Amino acid sequence: MIIAIDGPAASGKGTLGKRVAAHYGLAYLDTGQLYRAVARDTLAAGDDPTDAAAALKAAQALNPQSLDDSSLRTPELGEAASLVARHPQVRETLRAYQRTFAHRTPGAVIDGRDIGTVICPDADVKLFVTATPEERARRRYLELKQNGAEVTPNEVLADIEVRDERDQNRATAPLRMAEDAVLLDTTKLDIDAAFRVAIDMIDAAMGHAGQAG
Ligand code: DC
Repeated sequence: MIIAIDGPAASGKGTLGKRVAAHYGLAYLDTGQLYRAVARDTLAAGDDPTDAAAALKAAQALNPQSLDDSSLRTPELGEAASLVARHPQVRETLRAYQRTFAHRTPGAVIDGRDIGTVICPDADVKLFVTATPEERARRRYLELKQNGAEVTPNEVLADIEVRDERDQNRATAPLRMAEDAVLLDTTKLDIDAAFRVAIDMIDAAMGHAGQAG
């Protein structure tokens, strides 16, 4: 069983994805960590994330064991990740790892920007999780403050708007809701409420898939 969760930055898809995976006993992959790790390694080599050849080199050398790293969650690496993610060859290089992960037994929850559209168009269930930019910025600001980051709410909102624009308008695999995805707007939901709605949506989609197939 493959559950694909896509959505913009700070939409809550990561927290939701982890809980959904635990609920169904599935593995979980946050594909944003792949792009963040490529960005980290590109910068560590002294290269520029806009340099396609340099980012490709980092993607080809990526060690999947280095993904579970909380220092990848900084706004700077989010921004640099969004830049390396524009290079088609970087995306292509990371594709096989994501597909192999998704197709494991008994299944996986995998979140990102292009999971339902490009990585797993065959997913059993596709959720598109979103919230207004203001609400996403509010949540991300609280999270960053809690981790001791020196940021203002306006900086966080500006960062989110720049990333939304770039992720939605890039030429390759832009952030887009798949035609067969279910929309989950979490603007007015806390995490527990969003989780309950997500489970209802997934159960309904699985029931439906069962009847059709
Ligand atoms: O979900 P995140 O904030 O950790 O993602 C960081 C950046 O990585 C995001 O701005 C765009 C890119 N990304 C992507 O292009 N495709 C994915 N499947 C996941 C992330």
